[in-house]
Amino acid sequence: MCGKKLIGGIVLFVGMIFTLAGSWAQSGDCKTNKDTTLDEMQKAKYVGVAGCTCHMKQSLGNQYNVWIGTKHSRSWVVLQSLDARKLAKKMGIKGEPQQSPACLKCHGSAVSLDTLCMEATFHIEDGVQCETCHGPASQHVAIKMGQKIAAPMKLKIPTKEDCMMCHKEKKSHEMLNKKKFNIDKAWKKILHPIPKSK
Ligand code: HEC
Ligand code: HEC
Ligand code: HEC
Repeated sequence: MCGKKLIGGIVLFVGMIFTLAGSWAQSGDCKTNKDTTLDEMQKAKYVGVAGCTCHMKQSLGNQYNVWIGTKHSRSWVVLQSLDARKLAKKMGIKGEPQQSPACLKCHGSAVSLDTLCMEATFHIEDGVQCETCHGPASQHVAIKMGQKIAAPMKLKIPTKEDCMMCHKEKKSHEMLNKKKFNIDKAWKKILHPIPKSK
């Protein structure tokens, strides 16, 4: 669907709504928080991974399905596990880990932000998603739809330091006895580049 000739009027109209939403967001309500890996330069709203389906094309690298295949897509679901409950209990967290900001700040996205910063398509259940690493994308999506060109607006490209904000050693997680996180191997595991053109 994306990038193809759609019914121009509708696309433009939708694009304008998104752009408007984007400029409201710029009024200051959606400043990102230091707890997250997000960048201050992005003051757009979060559309959720449902807004990133243009990236399902094989010829463009199919980032969407690469992501589905990584643990990031299930990082919220895993908070339901027995391990997660034990860990939460040990940390003195009352209630469900899936609802606890103390867990969601790394197992979810943008938890410290107001719901004003989210489009209806955003779901915390989708865990560590595109925008967790690349920043809120409402402007990216809007411009793309309006102008029908690929990636007209640069999003953030995270660095290894950004990964380590969540993947740093955590005393709380030692009880899980997981293998030590290796950033170089991990980086290769999640890579989803745009294929070089022939
Ligand atoms: C600072 C970020 C951070 C916080 C806060 C955090 N986690 Fe994690 N968690 C991670 C990361 C990253 C991993 C993957 C392993 C690693 O690199 O440490 C992980 C792994 C896990 C796992 C293992 C998942 C698996 O696949 O087996 C469980 C269970 C878990 N966390 C539960 C929790 C619970 C419950 C909370 C809240 C009490 C929590 N975590 C808070 C970052 C965090
Ligand atoms: C855990 C963090 C993370 C998540 C989640 C993530 N990405 Fe990325 N993405 C990266 C990193 C890191 C790179 C670039 C690595 C490099 O080449 O330096 C990248 C690169 C890309 C690129 C290539 C950009 C370019 O100009 O070459 C695209 C497109 C992209 N991601 C889209 C997505 C989409 C769509 C999703 C969700 C379906 C997603 N990403 C989820 C970390 C992430
Ligand atoms: C917002 C927090 C967050 C950020 C940022 C993040 N991750 Fe993760 N990552 C997690 C959590 C939470 C898990 C555990 C999910 C699970 O086990 O279900 C995880 C799991 C993984 C795994 C699977 C680990 C395993 O034991 O199999 C890899 C690989 C990984 N991340 C790589 C990366 C890389 C590379 C980056 C940076 C480009 C990154 N992550 C950035 C939170 C994050």
